[in-house]
Amino acid sequence: DLPARGEPFRPQLSFSPQRNWMNDPNGLVYHDGEYHLFYQYNPNRNTWGDMSWGHAVSSDLLHWTELPLALPVEKNASGEITQMFFSGSAVVDHANTSGFGQPGKPAMVAMVTSMYPQARTVNGKPVRAGTQAQSIAYSLDRGRTWTQYAGNPVLPEPPTPYAAEYRDFRDPKMFWYEPEHKWVLATVVAKQHKALFYSSRDLVHWEWTGEFGPAGATGGVWECPDLIELPVDGDPAKRKWVLVISLNPGGPAGGSGMQYFVGDFDGKTFKRDRDAAGDAPRWLDYGADFYAGVTYNDVPGGRRLLVGWMNNWLYGEKVPTAPWRSAQSLPRELGLRTVNGQVKLVQQPIAQAQGLRGPSLYSAAGQTITRGTQAVPLTGTASAPLELKMVLQPGTATRAGIRLGQGTYTEIGYDAKQGAVYVDRTKSGETAFHPQFAARHTAPVALRDGGLPLRILVDRGSVTVFAGDGEAVLTDQVFPPAGAAGVSLFGVDGDAHVRDLDIWSLNSIWKE
Ligand code: FRU
Repeated sequence: DLPARGEPFRPQLSFSPQRNWMNDPNGLVYHDGEYHLFYQYNPNRNTWGDMSWGHAVSSDLLHWTELPLALPVEKNASGEITQMFFSGSAVVDHANTSGFGQPGKPAMVAMVTSMYPQARTVNGKPVRAGTQAQSIAYSLDRGRTWTQYAGNPVLPEPPTPYAAEYRDFRDPKMFWYEPEHKWVLATVVAKQHKALFYSSRDLVHWEWTGEFGPAGATGGVWECPDLIELPVDGDPAKRKWVLVISLNPGGPAGGSGMQYFVGDFDGKTFKRDRDAAGDAPRWLDYGADFYAGVTYNDVPGGRRLLVGWMNNWLYGEKVPTAPWRSAQSLPRELGLRTVNGQVKLVQQPIAQAQGLRGPSLYSAAGQTITRGTQAVPLTGTASAPLELKMVLQPGTATRAGIRLGQGTYTEIGYDAKQGAVYVDRTKSGETAFHPQFAARHTAPVALRDGGLPLRILVDRGSVTVFAGDGEAVLTDQVFPPAGAAGVSLFGVDGDAHVRDLDIWSLNSIWKE
């Protein structure tokens, strides 16, 4: 059953729950024809609390079916919370290393952070109030129903040097490490700005093998680590590891944000490559609304697909949407590319998103933008969801780009003085719900032959900008008035040019 999806700001390109609060994507795994999306979910309200794992599935990563809760919050007879389920990951135990599987039925195994608000005993183990420990659960019916492991928590506290950090030990990300035929997990002691690595043969017994950090940006807690291997410049013989860390606050656009490190993983620990940029943070997304992003396990063909939470802890509970809050991003395919001598993470919307393209609203091989603003004569109504693709040539303009909407508009452009692509949402519509929402966000990016390839996805409630090869990405929520349509090109102080400009109307993922 498809829900009524006509509400204002209801995302049309990526998943949002029918109602209530959602944050981080969890347990991203492909199994038996389905991509699973579990997520931090409050089944009872449209703000954070009662944290449970919600669940949705898709066969193509575009069209989602929301399912019943996978791991509901646990409460005692007086209604007090005894366990919340914070962020974590899932794998499919094809070789039945855990023994949880049955013939012909491999277990899907999730590791999740158990948050115990009160002191209690769990399976005979005492836990202190506020403990965050790692627990496992398994499913033999494609993630629909879950059995808690009787020996939980499997990681009752952080390793000895960090034992005092038991309240901030969370977000385990597990994956299969083929070179040693073992499971590896990355987790954090959040306030110490450290990622910790563990290994296991059976998903139950885990050995601490290494740590990384503090490094890069440390202006807030470290959360939701992920560790992935990727070929560099598409060369399968040249591979690097990327450690992804979410940071709250201290992100590039204020509030929460994501950084990454490029280096090597030897099965025990991560070592970062040193380069000319020194300890300068590398931001995964320069917008305000991309957080807690993690990648899928077991994607056919080995593609690395990342999903992030399209919101920000700074104002997340105040965004003007109801009866739900927050969307997950459209999955992004990750790569590593050498850009100006630096190995950088590059991101593009998953290839199948091109299948959402509907009628072309405009197409031009080339067009001059004389200084000022000029409307693009679209052949249909320019209401979200839309996709815009172009090569922007700023020429002599100090700023040039496009505006979505008139009067009330979101501006996406290149700023020649800053050498940066930006999203300006100061005039984008509803902004007053938080003093720091109205802002302009920039991502440094180099022009190539005087041009900047841009791909922009315009959804109800957000814009996402992929610049260059995808080495500069900005995700920003915007809440324009209904019907604020129209696209215009602009140049400031000089003439600019666009090449290969295409604008499409996109089909909603909620209509089959
Ligand atoms: C990140 C986070 C995680 C935690 C979850 C709780 O957004 O703070 O560290 O597991 O949210 O909902």
